[in-house]
Amino acid sequence: MNNRKPVTLHRLREMHAAGEKIAMLTCYDAAFARVLDDAGVDSLLVGDSLGMVLQGRPSTLAVSIDEMVYHTGCVARGNRTAWVIADMPFGSYQESAEVAMRHAALLMQQGAHMVKLEGGGWTAPIVRFLVDRGVPVCAHLGFTPQSVHALGGYRVQGRDEAGARVMRCCAEELAAAGAELLVLEMVPAALARDLTNALSIPVIGIGAGVGCSGQVLVLHDMLGLTGGEPLRFVRNFLDGSASIELAVRKYVTEVKGGRFPDDALHGF
Ligand code: KIV
Repeated sequence: MNNRKPVTLHRLREMHAAGEKIAMLTCYDAAFARVLDDAGVDSLLVGDSLGMVLQGRPSTLAVSIDEMVYHTGCVARGNRTAWVIADMPFGSYQESAEVAMRHAALLMQQGAHMVKLEGGGWTAPIVRFLVDRGVPVCAHLGFTPQSVHALGGYRVQGRDEAGARVMRCCAEELAAAGAELLVLEMVPAALARDLTNALSIPVIGIGAGVGCSGQVLVLHDMLGLTGGEPLRFVRNFLDGSASIELAVRKYVTEVKGGRFPDDALHGF
């Protein structure tokens, strides 16, 4: 068991300001929440990736708010000190800020400390609406899995100057709207580093290079439990570790030491 104080928004901001890396992993149940929290993972993301890794679906699109509510409650009950973020699933926030608030409330009532929603500038008014009503929000830019069809598949985002400019504007707009954290997925390492240096809020990368304030991976990917060809930005931490707990500890140590990801191996 770790003896740290509960991780708060203030602590995450402090870590970003001090250059101390933030280690985040996805988590979907109480048993893993206990293991990850004890191993020193700073933040647990109840990701809608559960649609793919737990339910075997081809994308995250079919995950419902009821499923997210259920898994958020499971994680919150197993967790002691980590910062818990719950994904708002596809269809739960796009319609209006009021609908988003109703669904965010269900997640917060289950023990989420923050909700995450995907998308650029169009989400800024929704972010503002939630933040004004006491719901901390994590934004998500770059490759946004709920838009997989609109984006034409799993592709790196922000490779060209125009794409990078749009991403920069969106990140600034979302931070100005009150987002307290930003996930950047599948973004060139140089762009992610620039954004991290430019923003006052922590930036958590997945396939976005080592220059971010912290890293997140899908738990089942980093334990080598996801079938098929491993994604370029993933490392199997169970490989060579004697237990899941040691694999997670290794991930935390490598993230905090700035040794994961290795941009030459895992970056774009
Ligand atoms: O749902 C999820 O697991 C995510 C991560 C990929 C960041 O959003």
